[in-house]
Amino acid sequence: MENLTPRREDLEPIEYASRDEISALQLKRIKQSIRHACENVLFFRKRFDEKGVHPDDLNSLSDLSKFPFTYKQDLRDTYPFGMFAVPQNKLARIHGSSGTTGKPTVVGYTKGDIDIWADLMARSIRAAGGRPGDILHNAYGYGLFTGGLGAHYGAERFGCTVVPISSGMIERQVTLINDFKPSIIMVTPSYMLSILDEFRRQGLDSRKSSLKVGILGAEPWTNAMRLEIEEAFDMHAVDIYGLSEIMGPGVAQECVETKDGLHVWEDHFYPEIIDPVTGEVLPDGKMGELVFTTLTKEALPMVRYRTRDLTRLLPGTARSMRRIEKITGRSDDMMILRGVNVFPTQIEEQILKCKGLAPHFYIELTRAGRMDNMVVHVECTEDMTDVDARAESARKLAHHIKSVVGVSTKIEVRDPNSVARSEGKAKRVVDNRPKE
Ligand code: DLL
Repeated sequence: MENLTPRREDLEPIEYASRDEISALQLKRIKQSIRHACENVLFFRKRFDEKGVHPDDLNSLSDLSKFPFTYKQDLRDTYPFGMFAVPQNKLARIHGSSGTTGKPTVVGYTKGDIDIWADLMARSIRAAGGRPGDILHNAYGYGLFTGGLGAHYGAERFGCTVVPISSGMIERQVTLINDFKPSIIMVTPSYMLSILDEFRRQGLDSRKSSLKVGILGAEPWTNAMRLEIEEAFDMHAVDIYGLSEIMGPGVAQECVETKDGLHVWEDHFYPEIIDPVTGEVLPDGKMGELVFTTLTKEALPMVRYRTRDLTRLLPGTARSMRRIEKITGRSDDMMILRGVNVFPTQIEEQILKCKGLAPHFYIELTRAGRMDNMVVHVECTEDMTDVDARAESARKLAHHIKSVVGVSTKIEVRDPNSVARSEGKAKRVVDNRPKE
């Protein structure tokens, strides 16, 4: 793989600023942002009043812990525009969650917000190893989802030639990669695997593709999956994180030269890690729930937004800004089986250790009497036609999961291409337990 480390002179000064400079900028901006939220959003004013806090109470970054949290439910309760801090005619764009579980959550941006987003996405693409002039194949979905347009504006800002293919139409994805010869692909890791399958189906050698970097995110994925993808395409695979409520993709980005977690762009977002149960702020290095306060958002300022994502904060390495460790999962995705906490990423890691199994899987939860059971449905590779060999890989996987994760599971090894593919985020858990 090519060395794609960006030159220091191409970075923005804030990317290598001292911790003191970063904290000073954060304090200045957080005061403005909290004031903006309080003065222009009735919801925040009421919440602050209920807690007996006022923007004047914020004199240091640690004072932020006095302020109340904001939850996804708050956006639902104020649907559609109730949390916006600017009048509708100042909004340049609306995005939203897919809303499969009810009404979508709506987020809005001023022209200034879109501008900063493009800058941060451009910074992210550079950190991932991109260069101006690169052809960038953008397979994140375009539409209400922030992935497609968010990546698109950043790639244009950075000076890439963007191919706005969006997700879906797998054959055409591979055709255009072969014909246009992009060096960068932006896509969810699970859809990257579908693209890999399609390369194989068309009899093409994926290692010979033009791709040099995959900027993969929008869902949890493991370092084991990174190795699998890097090996298959002979390219770097780096992690990108973000969420609509805070901005979209480009809140945090892994650097190609270190691949050691994602640097939070702390000049625009203030991260905290809290105990998800007590809400207490935890010191750097401790695992907990990630919480963000926006520092520069105009249309939708957020104060202590509970992401539900579990990770920890680590010191800066390739950049001065702190890193988040690769996200283990969301607290909503955590399954508890006979007292053991299990995340789909832990299962993914074990699957990738088993020869003959492909990382296309989902987890089914069932209940027999009072007992919850977990069935892992996983595909085998094309060459695994032998029934005994399949049974042997099932046995091995069950053994790995039992010894590493600590739970007993049933394994269903399925034919290649029998697990439904998603074009965006993979659905890893199917809950077939009776509703209480
Ligand atoms: O998924 C934004 C995005 C688009 C990020 C493209 C990266 C690339 P939402 O649809 O609002 O926004 O979903 C946000 O997705 O709270 C995490 O649970 C999960 N997520 C996003 N990136 C990662 C990642 C976009 N790199 C939710 N690793 C977040 C793990 C991720 N989970």
